Amino acid sequence: MEAMSNTCFLVSMNLLLVLFFLLKPNHTMASDRLSLGQSLSGKQTLISNDGTFALGFFSPGNSSKFYIGIWYNKLPGQTIIWVANRETPTSDPTTSKLQISDLGELVLLNSSKSLIWSSNSTSKATTAILLDTGNLVLRNDSTSEVDLWQSFAHPTDTCMPGGWLAVDKITGEYTKLTSWKNSEDPAPGFFAESMDPDGSNQYVLIWNGSNIYWTSGIWNGHYFANVPGTSDRTIFNLSFVDDKQRKFSSYLIKDKSFITRFVVDSDGQGKQWYWLSDRQQWQTVYTQPLAHCDVYSLCGPFGICDAKNLDSICGCPEGFQPASLKEWALSDWSLGCSRKTQLQCEADGFLPMDNLRLPAKPKSFKLRRYEECRDACLNDCSCTAYSYDNVCSIWNGGIRNLQQLHEGDNGGRSIYLRLAASDLPSSSGSGAKVIKVVLSSVAGVVAILFIAYCLMKVYERTKRAQTLRKLDNSLVQFSYTDLRRITRNFSEKLGSGGFGSVFKGTLPNSNQVAVKKLEGLRQGEKQFRAEVTALGSIQHVNLVRLYGFCSGGNERLLVYEYMPKGSLDAHLFLNESTELDWELRFQIILGTARGLAYLHEECRECIVHCDVKPDNVLLDAEFNPKVSDLGMAKLIGRDFSKVLTTMRGTIGYLAPEWIAGMPITPKVDVYSFGMMVFEVISGKRNNMHSEDGSMAFYPFWAAKKVVEGGSIVSLLDARLKGVVDLEQVTRVSRIACWCIQDLESQRPSMGQIVQILEGALDVNEPPLPLSLQNLAESV
Ligand SMILES: *[C@@H]1O[C@H](CO)[C@@H](O)[C@H](O)[C@H]1NC(C)=O
Ligand SMILES: *[C@@H]1O[C@H](CO)[C@@H](O)[C@H](O)[C@H]1NC(C)=O
Ligand SMILES: *[C@@H]1O[C@H](CO)[C@@H](O)[C@H](O)[C@H]1NC(C)=O
Ligand SMILES: *[C@@H]1O[C@H](CO)[C@@H](O)[C@H](O)[C@H]1NC(C)=O
Ligand SMILES: *[C@@H]1O[C@H](CO)[C@@H](O)[C@H](O)[C@H]1NC(C)=O
Ligand SMILES: *[C@@H]1O[C@H](CO)[C@@H](O)[C@H](O)[C@H]1NC(C)=O
Repeated sequence: MEAMSNTCFLVSMNLLLVLFFLLKPNHTMASDRLSLGQSLSGKQTLISNDGTFALGFFSPGNSSKFYIGIWYNKLPGQTIIWVANRETPTSDPTTSKLQISDLGELVLLNSSKSLIWSSNSTSKATTAILLDTGNLVLRNDSTSEVDLWQSFAHPTDTCMPGGWLAVDKITGEYTKLTSWKNSEDPAPGFFAESMDPDGSNQYVLIWNGSNIYWTSGIWNGHYFANVPGTSDRTIFNLSFVDDKQRKFSSYLIKDKSFITRFVVDSDGQGKQWYWLSDRQQWQTVYTQPLAHCDVYSLCGPFGICDAKNLDSICGCPEGFQPASLKEWALSDWSLGCSRKTQLQCEADGFLPMDNLRLPAKPKSFKLRRYEECRDACLNDCSCTAYSYDNVCSIWNGGIRNLQQLHEGDNGGRSIYLRLAASDLPSSSGSGAKVIKVVLSSVAGVVAILFIAYCLMKVYERTKRAQTLRKLDNSLVQFSYTDLRRITRNFSEKLGSGGFGSVFKGTLPNSNQVAVKKLEGLRQGEKQFRAEVTALGSIQHVNLVRLYGFCSGGNERLLVYEYMPKGSLDAHLFLNESTELDWELRFQIILGTARGLAYLHEECRECIVHCDVKPDNVLLDAEFNPKVSDLGMAKLIGRDFSKVLTTMRGTIGYLAPEWIAGMPITPKVDVYSFGMMVFEVISGKRNNMHSEDGSMAFYPFWAAKKVVEGGSIVSLLDARLKGVVDLEQVTRVSRIACWCIQDLESQRPSMGQIVQILEGALDVNEPPLPLSLQNLAESV
């Protein structure tokens, strides 16, 4: 609706239309454009043609300042993708004006008509148009297809599909993303992402324009080496162009209903977000760098980064306090910690701190004794810390990137931090502990709200009669009659396993579901409900979503999202199927690893799946993998292992410690995952594989090949016809081999596996797992 454009008024002198405009509240302009002579103020907005995006004044969080920004018009909340005047807010939007100036620039004037922001565009424009991609463009009406200026070329912290990161080889200008200072201040923060300033074909995350702390890896023709996830052409179309004028990287999304954006967050991480429409919330697909403490100067000067501290990742050492509590409360730690007492120079002392990763680039020199190192620091009033390890290392000024390590981490060192004598703990022995500043973070509040919400839901459900209820974003409780109707009296069986049979069903809203009838369940109804509720709260792109359940009398049923391509085993082990090329197989391995890593490491309560195998990896219409049957171990309880071991085929996936009846840790999933990966590579069940006609346990044979450095090509499924990325196959085979090590401590965690698959970590040559030989003989 181009309500405000003159042509519209001229053409339609229609009374109804005029009335419509008169009656319309004046806070929407209901137009996607702003033309010369018009202005935008107060609550007025531009809405893109299809309604996806809106532009107008907004005020972030509790801030009292106003900015011109673009946000998703149809999504709840206000997710900002672009800010015009990020450094020059206005306090009164009703008297401020966004308009096209006489010079043809887009400008923002404040109450006293002073210019506070300008597009600074050089070509004279007559119209600003908000496109359906979220791009704001300036055009001249008579040459309307030419963008004289566009917001995509001047992004703030977000790169939208269709947007780009570029370097202009002629002007030397970079199109880069710069983080907000914090959630309430869009002014440029310390973190930015851009093409490599050194000119290589990669992009980098950089702190304050000078310290690179993450690199994408060099473009290899298909993807950037350290972010192979983006090679997935089923979703992303990533491109890299290097011509005479520009070098740039851009991405497009194939499926227009897939809402996604890439953001350099004010916590220093680059994050790809996407919108979960059924949960009505944003979810990250990947973050870079993965380890949050790897972000340069995340905790500022004298701050200590501790990834394991859930209250606040940044803390201050003893004798220090947050430099600004206000910013600290907004998770903006960039100002770091300040001393409680100023230093006195000669009268100062040192606070010993243990098991830290120390900042790079100290002044180092060889000294024979620890005392000499200490004196060297004490006698230099600008020295703030020293560390001695045959070499004396000395730091001056504000120390950045101190990182707290924990038991089991390698490379921990001790450092001695200079403090005013009065701030030293009275018994300043070597055991002095770092005091963490604990502030109730936003995360904490959310967690409490979430728990309260869950309790409320459970309470509500137990009170309700058993009829079909559609509650948004939460589990649906079905009655048995409902499920009988939905599955047309359990007529279409999708499969059956150790825990019961699965049937296809169609909900009244015509969504398809898979209904699982649990068998052999002796759990009480109350406990079942509690477990199921917990399961319902676990949601991840690579985990099959639980929609609802039915629990009445002796019946226990679970209702899951329906996965059109069925389970992975059908695609792997049926000869006719040729659909799984290497790229898809790699994506399936990676997605499965992500799902399990989420279960192990990111859920509120760590869950061990206990039954990882191709039969439990389901594929959606685009072959994205989702792990199914999670939480069965808890639901089925003690009978679980009996069910598993009596199921043929499963035994080959069980870790030795499980078979030996020892306590179970997440590493049993790692073991099964490794076994599964071998099957994805070979396209055959492990225990049916033979070499030279003689029966041999495939993983043993494959592991030998990997360890002895034989030709990996002979491991491959013949259907792949050798069309693979050999480097990836090597990487994946090595991971699989590490996963099936006899000692669980030698196996990597699922989180590490994801990092290795994504190329963020390297993987060494694994040793040969010996117990495989026994297994090989017994199968
Ligand atoms: C705004 O301030 C109030 C009171 O200080 C606080 O409870 C609330 O969490 C803040 N909201 C945001 C979005 O920061
Ligand atoms: C408008 O901006 C000018 C220049 O930045 C400033 O001097 C003036 O105080 C502002 N007026 C108001 C009402 O904020
Ligand atoms: C436009 O130019 C002015 C003057 O050179 C400068 O102060 C301002 O930051 C520029 N604005 C943008 C958005 O680049
Ligand atoms: C728009 O473009 C046309 C053709 O290039 C030019 O003649 C005209 O002056 C431009 N209009 C403005 C307002 O710059
Ligand atoms: C960031 O860089 C600027 C310009 O190089 C420099 O002046 C400033 O001191 C740096 N900030 C910090 C906190 O190091
Ligand atoms: C991917 O994007 C590039 C450039 O934007 C385009 O030329 C190409 O056709 C696209 N490929 C696919 C498969 O969509």
